[in-house]
Amino acid sequence: MADLEGLKVEKNYYLDKPFGVEGNFHVKGAANLDWGMKKRLANIFNPKSGNTVMFAFDHGYFMGSVSGLERLDILLPKLIDHVDVLMATRGALRTCVKPDFRKGIALRASSGSSMLNDDLSHEILAVDIEDAIRMDVDCIAVQTFIGADGQLESIDNLSKAVNLGSRYSIPVLGVVAVGKNMERTDQYFKLATRIIAELGANIVKTYYCDKFEEVAAACPVPIVVAGGKKLPEREALEMAYHSIQGGARGLDMGRNIFQSYHPAVMAGAIGKIVHKKFTDKEAWEYYSDKIK
Ligand code: R5P
Repeated sequence: MADLEGLKVEKNYYLDKPFGVEGNFHVKGAANLDWGMKKRLANIFNPKSGNTVMFAFDHGYFMGSVSGLERLDILLPKLIDHVDVLMATRGALRTCVKPDFRKGIALRASSGSSMLNDDLSHEILAVDIEDAIRMDVDCIAVQTFIGADGQLESIDNLSKAVNLGSRYSIPVLGVVAVGKNMERTDQYFKLATRIIAELGANIVKTYYCDKFEEVAAACPVPIVVAGGKKLPEREALEMAYHSIQGGARGLDMGRNIFQSYHPAVMAGAIGKIVHKKFTDKEAWEYYSDKIK
């Protein structure tokens, strides 16, 4: 174990300095990866803006049919023009997404619990890498419960996903899970995101928090920010704007899109912030104008 006694140096996130190992590729931390990895990451992160709008609708893997996702076959055609990546289970993808979909796919690969359990942190890696290859996905997503009862299992799942992903050039998206009793502080997110990146994930999904810019600076791979529970649209746009300003390379949003009364317009407004440098105010004006 590292000796933590007598540490005197204050933390310095060098917020004024950009990440220093970009090479000629637009995705943070990916300069030294191979062509296949880069090709898939370029399907996720737009080469012009460097950012992504991911639409998360993988909730069914532990929540069943939540409000807004009852009929994926009806919802998805309205949304796919407005997002860059679909994040879903293989069951939802195979049944409800046409195989001629040409954007990014993030495949939810861990599972093992349901809303009927008190402790959701015990999961397995449920998808064979061969099936991820068959579906030609752009990354595999693994829920990671740092500090929870199931930490060892989820680190095992993440590590196996990284080992298999490295073998076949499929990036891994490590998802920071926040259980009922887990704190949503910058200290926690700095710990969790850095552990997930150091274990080899190529993208980390986490939540926005105070001092988010320090969380993003200390994470050597791109962070995409989760939407979380449904907020009023204007607040969700503010959160998206502050996330991008703080160094996130995208949003991976579910309920704040599909539980909006205007999911496609909401996704479009998020896209304006993520790709077109809109402020939250401009995005809110865009949203308000479109729903008139
Ligand atoms: C994380 O637990 C899963 O990926 C969720 O299904 C997804 O992140 C939830 O998205 P949101 O919090 O934006 O509804």
